[in-house]
Amino acid sequence: MPGLRLAHKVAVITGGGSGIGRESAILFASEGANLVLADINLEACTQTAELINERFKGGELPVRAVALQCDVSKEAQVAAVVQKAVDEFGRLDVMFNNAGIMHGADDHALNTEERIWDLTQEINVKGVWWGCKHAILAMRNNPTDAEKGLHVGGSIINTASFVAIMGAATPQIAYTTSKGAVLAMTRELAMVHAREGIRVNSLCPGPLKTPLLMDFLNTPEKLNRRLNHLPLGRFGEAIEQARAALFLASDESSYVIGHDMLVDGGLSKAYVTAEGEPVLPPPSSLV
Ligand SMILES: NC(=O)c1ccc[n+]([C@@H]2O[C@H](COP(=O)([O-])OP(=O)(O)OC[C@H]3O[C@@H](n4cnc5c(N)ncnc54)[C@H](O)[C@@H]3O)[C@@H](O)[C@H]2O)c1
Repeated sequence: MPGLRLAHKVAVITGGGSGIGRESAILFASEGANLVLADINLEACTQTAELINERFKGGELPVRAVALQCDVSKEAQVAAVVQKAVDEFGRLDVMFNNAGIMHGADDHALNTEERIWDLTQEINVKGVWWGCKHAILAMRNNPTDAEKGLHVGGSIINTASFVAIMGAATPQIAYTTSKGAVLAMTRELAMVHAREGIRVNSLCPGPLKTPLLMDFLNTPEKLNRRLNHLPLGRFGEAIEQARAALFLASDESSYVIGHDMLVDGGLSKAYVTAEGEPVLPPPSSLV
C-alpha cells in the first residue's frame, strides 16, 4: 500500500499495555501493521487492542490487533506470542521487545536486594533474549511476496535506555546493568543474523513522562534531579520513542543494524544544560 510504512507487515510488541508499547502499537497500526500485543497486564493490553480495532477497522488497509497475556521472562509464553502472530497473520516482520521494569526498590550496589536484581535481569534481559530467539526462528520462515513488499527476515527492536550509555549518579544498579546487557546482546545478534535479513537494533530512550519513570521519581527532589539535565526542559513523550521505533521497524532503516538509537532530547550530548522555558509544546499522544 503506497504511503503506509508497515503495509501488510505483522508486528509483536511486548509491553503493549502502556507507555512506549501502547503508542507504538497505535502508530504501527496506523502504518498498516497487524499486531500481536503482549503484556503481563492483560487488561491494559486488551484496551490497546480494542482502541486499535475500533479506530482502524474501516481504513484503506484494515488492520487488527490481538492481545495476549505474557510474562516475557517465561520462554513458553513468549514462544506462544510469536506463534500467535504466525497462526493469526501468517508471518512475523517486526519484534519490538519493549517490556521492562524499573523496580522501586532498585538502589545502589550495597542496598539492592538479590531478588530485585534477579527479577530485573529476568524480565529486562532474559525477556529480550526469549523475544529475539523466537522472533529469529519465525523470521527465517517468512514467505516473500514482492508485490506486497514482504520478504524473508525482519526487524527486531530491543528497548534499552540512555542509562546503558551514560553514568547516572542516581542509583538503580539492577536496571542499569540490565540495559547494558540489552545493548551488548543486540549488537551480537545484529552481527550474527545480518546475512539472514534479520536486522537487530536497540532503542535507547531518554527519561520519559510514562508511568514507569513517574512512579519511580515519586518526590519533587527526585524529579528535579533529572529535569535539570534535560536540554529541552521537559521529559520525553512515549510517542517520540514510538516514531523512532517505527523507523527501525520499517524497511526505511534497511542499512541500520546493531545501532544504539538514542532518542534522549540531547541529554547524552549536554555538558551545560540550556536555560529558559521550552518554546514548543510536546507532541500529542495517540491514545
Ligand atoms: N519511561 C522511561 O523513562 C524509560 C527510559 C528509558 C527506557 N525505558 C524502557 O522503555 C520500555 C517501556 O517502558 P515504558 O516507559 O513504556 O513503561 P510502562 O511501565 O509505561 O510500560 C511497560 C509495560 O511493560 C509491561 N510489563 C512489565 N513487566 C512485564 C513482563 N514481565 N512481561 C510482559 N510485560 C511486562 C507492563 O505491564 C507495562 O504495560 C522499558 O523497557 C523501559 O525500561 C523507559
